[in-house]
Amino acid sequence: MWADRPGVSPEEVRRRLDAVDYLVDDGLAMALFLALRLGRPLLLEGEPGVGKTAAAKALARALDTTLIRLQCYEGLGVPEALYEWNHQRQLLAIRLAEARAEKLGEADLFTAEFLLERPILRAVRHPGPVPPVLLIDEIDRADDEFEALLFEFLGEAAITVPELGTFTAVRPPIVVLTSNRSRELHDALRRRCLYHWIDYPSAGRAVEIVRRTVPGADAALITAATAFIAHVRGLELDKAPGMAETIDWVAALSALGVTELVPDHVIRTLGAIAKTPDDRDLITAALPAAPQERQP
Ligand SMILES: Nc1ncnc2c1ncn2[C@@H]1O[C@H](COP(=O)(O)OP(=O)(O)OP(=O)(O)O)[C@@H](O)[C@H]1O
Ligand SMILES: [Mg+2]
Repeated sequence: MWADRPGVSPEEVRRRLDAVDYLVDDGLAMALFLALRLGRPLLLEGEPGVGKTAAAKALARALDTTLIRLQCYEGLGVPEALYEWNHQRQLLAIRLAEARAEKLGEADLFTAEFLLERPILRAVRHPGPVPPVLLIDEIDRADDEFEALLFEFLGEAAITVPELGTFTAVRPPIVVLTSNRSRELHDALRRRCLYHWIDYPSAGRAVEIVRRTVPGADAALITAATAFIAHVRGLELDKAPGMAETIDWVAALSALGVTELVPDHVIRTLGAIAKTPDDRDLITAALPAAPQERQP
């Protein structure tokens, strides 16, 4: 893959991601470049909607490789994330053996044939030739014990199945972990990863992201809407709008044929950016005055 070639630079990573409409600043380009170059997992943190999940998806597209996604949640464990024994097939094998008056021992039942791959083992055993991108999304939603299950994988690109042995990836998967910092992660997990904090995009990049995501939206509307969102993020909101909300909002305004941020239109479409009643009130109060009100 292109990322393995000797002359690859952070700039090339930026260009390749740009080609799949994911726009990075220098910091994120460098973080992704190093993750690819050093073959190390990358932990991305940042406010909701800054493009953490989108970064992994875009990387898979830019590398033209498979994206394997593990969405984390409370209670997630080995059977959902790593591997599971196929109990139904094991039972069936036992019944078939009994019907043939044969007996199956443990060694017959705990073989690769009865192993179900879950995302992490699937990533380890991916046949290649290009390694997959494994997205371990919102790791902070899983219980903290789950992180310990990842140490072997993150450190050595390997998974040990006690009954079978250790599977080691021929080519380590490209691993992106994301977190919203809803709780602190173990130092041991952080140590095994490179780290990057994704900030809200600059004004220029935000405009370009929306321009590419909402084709046909009026250029002046995009500029005004992204500027208004940046302003609104400075308010004491429950949920500051991210890029996802900005994109939704411009798409909503655009669908209504709006080309100017007139308060009337804004209020009708506030549901795209204000996600609680309090935020709705705060944002309404921050609206620019209607043009006719500004006239003497
Ligand atoms: N740098 C970017 N380039 C292009 N699109 C972007 C970028 N950042 C964000 N987006 C857009 O914003 C949307 C939201 O981003 P995403 O869902 O990845 O955010 P997130 O950080 O994972 O949020 P959450 O913490 O809520 O999961 C994406 O679908 C994408 O369209
Ligand atoms: Mg996400």
